[in-house]
Amino acid sequence: MVDPLSDPVIKLTDVTRRFWPGPVKAADRVSLEVRPGEILTLLGPSGCGKTTTLRLIAGFEMPDEGTIHVGGVEVAGPGTWVPPEKRGVGMVFQDYALFPHLTVGDNVMFGLDRMGRKARRDRAREVLKVLGLDAFFHRYPHELSGGQQQRVALARALAPEPVLVLMDEPFSNLDAHLRDQVRDEVVAILRKTGVTCIFVSHDQRDALAISDRVAVMNQGRVEQVGSPREIYKHPESVFVATFVGRTNLLQGRVQNENGCVLTDFGSFCRVDRLGLPNGTNVMVSVRPDGFECSPHGLLSGRILSTTYTGAQVEAEVVFPSALGGDRKLVVHLPPSRNYEVGEELSFRLAPEFASVVRNSCQGMGLAAAD
Ligand SMILES: Nc1ncnc2c1ncn2[C@@H]1O[C@H](COP(=O)(O)OP(=O)(O)OP(=O)(O)O)[C@@H](O)[C@H]1O
Ligand SMILES: [Mg+2]
Repeated sequence: MVDPLSDPVIKLTDVTRRFWPGPVKAADRVSLEVRPGEILTLLGPSGCGKTTTLRLIAGFEMPDEGTIHVGGVEVAGPGTWVPPEKRGVGMVFQDYALFPHLTVGDNVMFGLDRMGRKARRDRAREVLKVLGLDAFFHRYPHELSGGQQQRVALARALAPEPVLVLMDEPFSNLDAHLRDQVRDEVVAILRKTGVTCIFVSHDQRDALAISDRVAVMNQGRVEQVGSPREIYKHPESVFVATFVGRTNLLQGRVQNENGCVLTDFGSFCRVDRLGLPNGTNVMVSVRPDGFECSPHGLLSGRILSTTYTGAQVEAEVVFPSALGGDRKLVVHLPPSRNYEVGEELSFRLAPEFASVVRNSCQGMGLAAAD
């Protein structure tokens, strides 16, 4: 259980890391806090600075600006530097980085060099047992499946009882079927041991599935931190809205007198973040779940195409816009029946899937609409 009142295990304050030539700001004033027992995922596209942020926390990179605290102790900052081995942070690399010439047992015992021989062996056995790997103690990495190697890498990171485990794209080497299974197993183990963890992923499905909170990164910056539900339902920026799942971006105008945003496709009321002056032009992100199929709906649209995904039918629907012309939007339909291309359906708007979003290069809530 995450205690929101306890001191953070890890705290980054305005951390910047530049690389030359450029300079490329791989981390740009990153501020983050992670609580004890929490699983946080850094999510973002390739090159946005996820690995750099992990390496800064682990101590493999030095920040140009800002401070990093681990367990309440400053480990990096102006005039402060604690080397990686003294930070109490375990890291699982993308390629597992197991030693091929060492057995599973020896791999796990590798980081326990400060313990006596028997204590090392006992600790390795204990951790391997928790991960369901005790039978593989004497095997070599090449004699294991990808998923088993992944768990050995995690066992090695957990064995020294770190305050924090960092995992960089830990599931990307696994095929789709094994991936979900290993992911769920690893998360169950992390929950059982209560260790705090930061994952890195560019897969929004993984991030939403496993995290207490997700930090979405874009060009070195943290764009938004929130629970998976907050990130999906209430993205704060166009970037978050479009990177995490599919969305429809509509132009709208704030109508404070009734607490709504008026768009070309109707009024969304009780939308988040409406403390904006009346008449402000805004951008509204409406998830495909925000158009509910209903015989009493006031909005009618024509199906252009459908994709059955099992859990739902993802459809492209053409709606007439109040401004004239048509607009194609993505809509989720219940999977209980078939839909024909050309079929007319009525929809009602579900405000909980609508969110006023900031254009990343503009101020909060203000849109390019005019
Ligand atoms: N040692 C380095 N020297 C120069 N530039 C670097 C170095 N390490 C990272 N960068 C640059 O910093 C930016 C962020 O890189 P980083 O590896 O943190 O991205 P990432 O989010 O982990 O991407 P991916 O999903 O592809 O792993 C990129 O533009 C990258 O080219
Ligand atoms: Mg990376």
